Amino acid sequence: MKKAILFVLILAMLAGLCACGSTAPQATPAPAPVPESTPEPASPAEKTAAPDEAAETPEAAAEAQEASETNILVLYFSRTGEQYEVGVIEKGNTAIVAEMIGEATGADLYEILPADDHYPMTYKELTDVALQEQREGARPAYAGELPDMSSYDTIFIGAPVWWGDWPMILYTVFESTPLSGKTLVPFSTHAGSGLSGFDRSLAAAYPDCTIAKGLAIAGSDAQNDPDQVRSSVAGWLSELGF
Ligand SMILES: Cc1cc2nc3c(=O)[nH]c(=O)nc-3n(C[C@H](O)[C@H](O)[C@H](O)COP(=O)(O)O)c2cc1C
Repeated sequence: MKKAILFVLILAMLAGLCACGSTAPQATPAPAPVPESTPEPASPAEKTAAPDEAAETPEAAAEAQEASETNILVLYFSRTGEQYEVGVIEKGNTAIVAEMIGEATGADLYEILPADDHYPMTYKELTDVALQEQREGARPAYAGELPDMSSYDTIFIGAPVWWGDWPMILYTVFESTPLSGKTLVPFSTHAGSGLSGFDRSLAAAYPDCTIAKGLAIAGSDAQNDPDQVRSSVAGWLSELGF
């Protein structure tokens, strides 16, 4: 009997020892304490401006724009589609020359577009429409409003030669746009007729302007030999003092 009691006691002691060595179940960690007020991410308006961002106020932007303004404008008319000797083109011959003048002088560019673009994209049909307009002395309307000319002292005016003259839409511009006292510089692209009297007709339209020496560029050169044309444009501009 004593032995049995002793055995039970030993078992009980062993059981107690095992229980002490076993891994107790992990207590679920309490949620981390949340700070009373979590700071919100800064809204864009509250972001601290970087030094150069700070300088970009509306006033600073307006001043920068004013400083970069030019007093030179390149006003031009030009057609894409099928053109003489160059096939179907995506940028007009005159537009190419206009852009070169713009690049070299920092001038603003403005393309005269017809209000109602009735000009065919095929060469033969275009020549028919243009001839008809010339015979009628038409004044085709241009789209939108031209830029404020009071900001410019020198205006380059360019167009393709159409039947030995400015396209009639240029006369619409001349007759509706006072340019007294300014220097006007004609340029053409053509297929053999050169400047075709652009300078004389410009002088007749603007008797109180200075008409500077013009430039005539073959349309096929503008399209196919831009380096040579760029160099002609540069030489001419330098003669004019640009
Ligand atoms: C309606 C029309 C009439 C033209 N008349 C002449 C002309 O009389 N003399 C000439 O040399 N080229 C003439 N051309 C050729 C254009 O002047 C030449 O292709 C020009 O570079 C086209 O320029 P653009 O692509 O800027 O319109 C005429 C072209 C057209 C479409």
